[in-house]
Amino acid sequence: MIYDNHNRPISYLRLAVTDRCNLRCFYCMPEEGIKYLPKHQVLTFEEMERLVRVLARLGVNKVRITGGEPFVRSGLMAFMHRLADINGLTDLSMTTNGVLTGPHVAELAALGVRSVNLSLDTLDRARFHKITRRDELPAVLKTLDALLEAGIQTKINAVVMEGQNTQDLIPLTDLTRTLPVDVRFIEEMPFNGEGSHYPILHWTHRRIIDEIRAHFPTLEKLPDPPFSTSANYQIPSHQGTIGVIAAFSRTFCGTCNRIRLTAQGTLKTCLYDNGVLDARALLRSGASDEELTAAFLQAFAHRPANGFEAEQERSVVTESMATIGG
Ligand code: GTP
Ligand code: 5AD
Ligand code: SF4
Repeated sequence: MIYDNHNRPISYLRLAVTDRCNLRCFYCMPEEGIKYLPKHQVLTFEEMERLVRVLARLGVNKVRITGGEPFVRSGLMAFMHRLADINGLTDLSMTTNGVLTGPHVAELAALGVRSVNLSLDTLDRARFHKITRRDELPAVLKTLDALLEAGIQTKINAVVMEGQNTQDLIPLTDLTRTLPVDVRFIEEMPFNGEGSHYPILHWTHRRIIDEIRAHFPTLEKLPDPPFSTSANYQIPSHQGTIGVIAAFSRTFCGTCNRIRLTAQGTLKTCLYDNGVLDARALLRSGASDEELTAAFLQAFAHRPANGFEAEQERSVVTESMATIGG
């Protein structure tokens, strides 16, 4: 296992396989979409596989496939099979919006994907349409059913937004009554690709929990797994759990074990950095595995202790979550 310059293990890679998406969630992208990368700038699956192999040899054991939306890239399932065969990867998972995912769930389970995170902000079709600008709720709910049917551990990610979906807090929480899902409420972060100034955060983790507790007074705190982004809770007798991700009001930097590769092959050692290594340029210049390894190690030796604080000092954010991969 490799440790960074602040003694944090680097064990979790978030790999964005595309910057494209088939939804237009207003907190992530403008209506017209973001300016997508031209194809030659996106890593090929072969290039991605090579980087993952090098990182797995350095001790990365968990890979989460992200996007954009992973399933808008063709050939994704063949790539998943290749990743599943890499030695040392013990945890292969995915974050998806669920629109195209349903038909692939059985195959994902068969190749060893044990957990999937599903982005789902509301159970109401009209609100879903308004938030994502697409009328796709039925397809996402079918995917949810398929995931549970296949025995894949499923986390629902719901971004909590004033004036948009706060009426969904209780119905989403109530899903845990009969379904073994982990519903996680996320504080909205200012990454909508439009360069807006920091908004006031209306729904902090505290307020979210207070609202849930007002309806479910027996809500209990659970111990959090190591490196968890969420504080976790459960309503006794419910099958599933509740989590709150304080993405904006709190920092996870102290225990951060994650690195990111964007679709164009930029390494980020912090959600908030602008990229610390152009792995694509290295690959395409013919670098050996040893050279790639040395470049990664160099980057891991210079991780910021707290990228979140540094970010708070900047005042305008123009990046979209679809470029960063969440
Ligand atoms: P698990 O592997 O299940 O723990 O998932 P995860 O929480 O790492 O990933 P997921 O893709 O489901 O992301 C959930 C939310 O957490 C998204 O809004 C992410 O942007 C946010 N998130 C993930 N990593 C970080 C991080 O390092 N810092 C901050 N502030 N937010 C993060
Ligand atoms: N704030 C908080 N979470 C966001 N996500 C996307 N954009 C934002 C944002 N601005 C979440 C999605 C997805 C995860 C990868 O990131 O809900 O589940
Ligand atoms: Fe697509 Fe996810 Fe962004 Fe929504 S939040 S537009 S599903 S990348």
